[in-house]
Amino acid sequence: MQIRVGIITVSDRASRGQYDDLGGPALKKFAEGSGWKVLAESLVPDEKRDIQRAIREQAARGCQLILTTGGTGVALRDVTPEAVREIAIRELPGFGEVMRAESMKITKNAILSRNLAAVVEKSLVICLPGKPSGAVECLGFVFEAIPHCIEVLQEVPTSC
Ligand code: MTE
Repeated sequence: MQIRVGIITVSDRASRGQYDDLGGPALKKFAEGSGWKVLAESLVPDEKRDIQRAIREQAARGCQLILTTGGTGVALRDVTPEAVREIAIRELPGFGEVMRAESMKITKNAILSRNLAAVVEKSLVICLPGKPSGAVECLGFVFEAIPHCIEVLQEVPTSC
């Protein structure tokens, strides 16, 4: 099964054109290198409504996996976890736990990150840090759990 992916960059400054979005392209490269198909890419400001709308639009377009980058830190404008939790059916705490634990081996600042994964409609949403290298690292830490999670959400028969 080729996983269909949507990517959302959450950044006030990138959405205003004040700097280039590097996180979205970094995730796209990782996704395509993994054999996944990137169906949608969005760039939105750090606003809950915009984040939620982008997630719903990508889910409606058939994205089984939606990756967000940005807005998971401690700054007052960082609202990605709150935006996702408000529309999620359930959270999958293991993803955030593993991403933080593994990231702590790279940078002690990872304790500040609020990375998470949650189910919105039938899509798996994974919220990654804004720093492009951090986003790719965190996705790598949970990579192996993604196909089975998507099969379960898509109700594909599985062996476990
Ligand atoms: N995780 C990994 N794997 N690698 C990193 O470089 N950067 C951290 C952290 N998680 C980082 C990481 C930093 S510097 C911060 S401030 C937090 O993620 C939150 O990032 P965000 O506010 O860009 O979402």
